[in-house]
This record gives sequence, C-alpha cells and structure tokens, in this order.
Amino acid sequence: MSDPHFSHLLTGNLTDEILLLTINRPGKLNALNREVLAEIEQAVRSFEDSSELLVMVITGAGEKAFVAGADISELSTLSQAEGENLSAAGQRVMSTIELCSKPVIALVNGYALGGGAELAMACHLRIATENALIGLPEVSLGLIPGYGGTQRLPRLAGRARAMEMILTGEPVNASDALMYGIVNDVVPADQALEAAKKMAERIVKNGPLAISKAIRAISAAYPSRGFTTEAVLFGELCATDDFREGTGAFLEKRKAVFKGR
Ligand code: COA
Repeated sequence: MSDPHFSHLLTGNLTDEILLLTINRPGKLNALNREVLAEIEQAVRSFEDSSELLVMVITGAGEKAFVAGADISELSTLSQAEGENLSAAGQRVMSTIELCSKPVIALVNGYALGGGAELAMACHLRIATENALIGLPEVSLGLIPGYGGTQRLPRLAGRARAMEMILTGEPVNASDALMYGIVNDVVPADQALEAAKKMAERIVKNGPLAISKAIRAISAAYPSRGFTTEAVLFGELCATDDFREGTGAFLEKRKAVFKGR
C-alpha cells in the first residue's frame, strides 16, 4: 500500500495491530538517502503516536536487499563538518527507533550493509531471511560506520566479532549472524513475513505498558558516549583523500587504491 505522506516508504498492515513499513528504493537497493532517513523518522513517530498499532516490522522492497547502506552518492562530496552532521542525524534516526516505546522488528531480507545493518541493529528484534548478508563495509570506502554501528555491533556480537567485521569490512551470512547473536532467527524468504507476524503476535498478547517499560529498562543498560566519538571520527574521515578515493571508486565501479592520507 502506498502512503501519500512518503516518497520512499510503503505502509501496510500485517494485522490491525502490526504495521509493515517497506523501504522502497529497489533500483538503489533501498539505500538510505537523507529523504529516506527523514521519512523513517517520521514513520516511527507516527507509529508511536498511533492508538491502534502495537508493533512495527521494517523491511526492504524487492528480494535482494533490506538496505544496502547509506546512499554513497550523497556521501562522496561531504566536508568534515557535513560528515559529522550527517552522522549525528543518522544516529538520531536510529536512536528514535531504539528508544521507541513500542517494539520494532527488522525483517532483514537480503543485503543489510552499512546504514542498513545499522538500521537493523537499532531495531529491537531482527529476523533474517536465509539469503541475508549483514555487514559494515565502510572501511572499504575509507570511512567508519556512522549511524551507531561501532556502538551497537559490539553489544550484539561482542567486541571480538565486531572488531573482525568492522576492520575487515566483510559481511556475514544469515547463519553466522544467528550464531554471533546479531539476529534472533533465520527463516526461508517465502516464510519471512509470516515469521515476523508470529513474533509480533507473541509480543502483542502481553501488557503494552509492560512492553514499553521493558524496552526502556533494557535500553537504559547501554548508555554510550561512543556515539559522539563515532560522529566526530566519521567527520574527520570525510576530510581525507582515502574517503574521496573509496567513495569515488564505488561510484566509478572500480577498485579503490588507498594511500593512507
Ligand atoms: N548507495 C548508493 N547506491 C547504491 C548503494 C549505496 N549504498 N548500494 C547499491 N547502490 C546502487 C548501485 O550503485 C546500483 O545503481 P546503478 O544501477 O544506478 O548503477 C544499484 O544500486 C544496484 O547495485 P549494484 O552494485 O549494481 O548491485 P550488485 O548486485 O552488483 O551489488 C552490493 C550489490 C550490495 C554488493 C553493492 O551494491 C554494494 O557493494 N553496495 C554498497 C554497499 C556499501 O558499501 N554500503 C555501505 C555504505 S556506507
């Protein structure tokens, strides 16, 4: 169902109480540009305000990708200050999801890279399809994750796996993501919506006030000053030749040659 409020999101219902939000830029593998990020923030806020809806499921349009990252064509020209601001703005959207008083489930249906993995990790629960590939490849662009990935991946997968995934930039498949604690469940693609609905229904039968306070209490266990550090360092990298080379190489469909400056 298309929603007149949004250019890049589709909204529908799995039941009267369960909202399905689909990020819909399939030609760009649902990459997050500024407009998509702003629309997601708006959608989460209106879901939170709704008196009928109790759980939201977020997924990506098409069979190939959940979200293939922040939109690299928007990143490539950022100055240091613009980079830091973009990172802080992206972090704010992800925190809006994480601190939402109602549960948000990511249905990771294919590539969840960079900002896509960060979006999934900001959700309260994650179901992956068997073809999912989850990773933070920013170092291959001369960058670091900037939407909270350096903070949330270690919480889910532990410091050693997070270091490995962020420093190599290599994604993990769905079964490894399950083993590392990054996702809650892995299901065949044709059963994914049903699985998300079932998980939502297991929550909906409980007291909504208790659910909301449980989310708040769990989130309170993870205060982090690291988000500010992440945004500052993301901005610093935007002022480097390596960042121009990394993002330029992606857009020109060639291999990056980094010089370390
Ligand atoms: N930002 C902007 N555009 C993106 C994108 C992103 N993060 N990810 C994919 N796209 C675009 C491609 O440029 C391409 O557009 P085009 O058809 O106009 O050239 C389209 O989406 C399809 O992607 P393509 O690379 O042709 O698909 P593929 O199947 O060969 O590869 C991926 C899929 C996900 C491996 C590859 O698109 C990729 O590496 N994307 C970037 C991942 C990334 O680094 N994300 C972190 C960003 S911070």
